[in-house]
Amino acid sequence: MSTISMSRIICITLNPTLDLSNDALRVVPTHKVRVRNQRQDVGGGGINVARVIAELGGEAEVAVLSGGASGVIMEEALRALPLHLHTFAMKGAVRIAFMVYEEETNLEYRFVPDGPVVAPLEIEPVFDLIERERADYVVASGSLPRGVPVDSYARMARMTAAGNGRFVLDASGEPLAAAIAEGGIFLFKPSLSELEKLVGHSLDIEAAGAFAADLVRRGAARHVALTLGSDGALLVGPDGMFRMPAITVPVRSAVGAGDSFVGAMVWALSKGQTMREAFRFGLAAGAAAVMTPGTELCRRADILRLYGETCAASHEETATAWLARA
Ligand SMILES: Nc1ncnc2c1ncn2[C@@H]1O[C@H](COP(=O)(O)OP(=O)(O)OP(=O)(O)O)[C@@H](O)[C@H]1O
Ligand SMILES: [Mg+2]
Repeated sequence: MSTISMSRIICITLNPTLDLSNDALRVVPTHKVRVRNQRQDVGGGGINVARVIAELGGEAEVAVLSGGASGVIMEEALRALPLHLHTFAMKGAVRIAFMVYEEETNLEYRFVPDGPVVAPLEIEPVFDLIERERADYVVASGSLPRGVPVDSYARMARMTAAGNGRFVLDASGEPLAAAIAEGGIFLFKPSLSELEKLVGHSLDIEAAGAFAADLVRRGAARHVALTLGSDGALLVGPDGMFRMPAITVPVRSAVGAGDSFVGAMVWALSKGQTMREAFRFGLAAGAAAVMTPGTELCRRADILRLYGETCAASHEETATAWLARA
């Protein structure tokens, strides 16, 4: 069994968070809401993707901006994780998100600041890293900080492709639109609402598939994995379209389903799996993520079990061999 991944994967997190999760009986205005069981975690798309890859036994690198006292705490938490860190200093402080789980209703409230303003110069070292390291996969997930150029993901896509790497993008809004306009993305993972914002009107699944196919035809992205929450996901690429329903699991918390999907897909691809197998693996990881409570992402054992179920159900090529290696 090989434990060393031959592929290098760098996950970019330009706007990380320190997540504080708490439990409260009931959230009310005016009065103090007493919270218990405070938990501290690091968040941000790229960090989450890297954690999923590590959970699967892979080796992921994280490029993260850090600053302020919250940055010191975040870095300490990050160092406790099995990730290779590339930390870059910023003047601003890492944002602190606050989550409250309301026990009476089983509802979760999430308060997420937009984060510090970052000077364009402060992210130049991240571009240098991408250019220098020429990783096999560069995964950009999450929002861009305020203040950096809107075409930052587009520039990363261009740089990665120039180094013969594969650029994977899970983003939204203007930074996403700019990257799509630039083209050269290897794998684009939108949700339905992200596609709708991109096209400027609402879409049913059929129209979303047609739009994704158009993106592939135009060379904006080689593959599009459109995730549809409890409706599963749709893969569009040069070989056509492939739709899978979601795997039915008990739902605890949807937090991190998208990042788990991306992490598992990239890990499977880095192990030499086909795009379709990787997609199936992503679907299993997304389902595994909704089974776990709170900010916990997904567990390896759940992913492997759910993945095995999708293989049996579809009667397609069994993946026993590579599961054994996983
Ligand atoms: N309720 C669910 N039951 C089973 N699988 C789910 C469920 N919700 C999500 N998934 C799986 O996880 C994948 C990713 O979820 P989703 O489409 O919600 O991502 P997302 O919108 O990017 O989420 P987020 O960015 O909030 O994490 C889905 O394609 C699906 O396979
Ligand atoms: Mg998402």
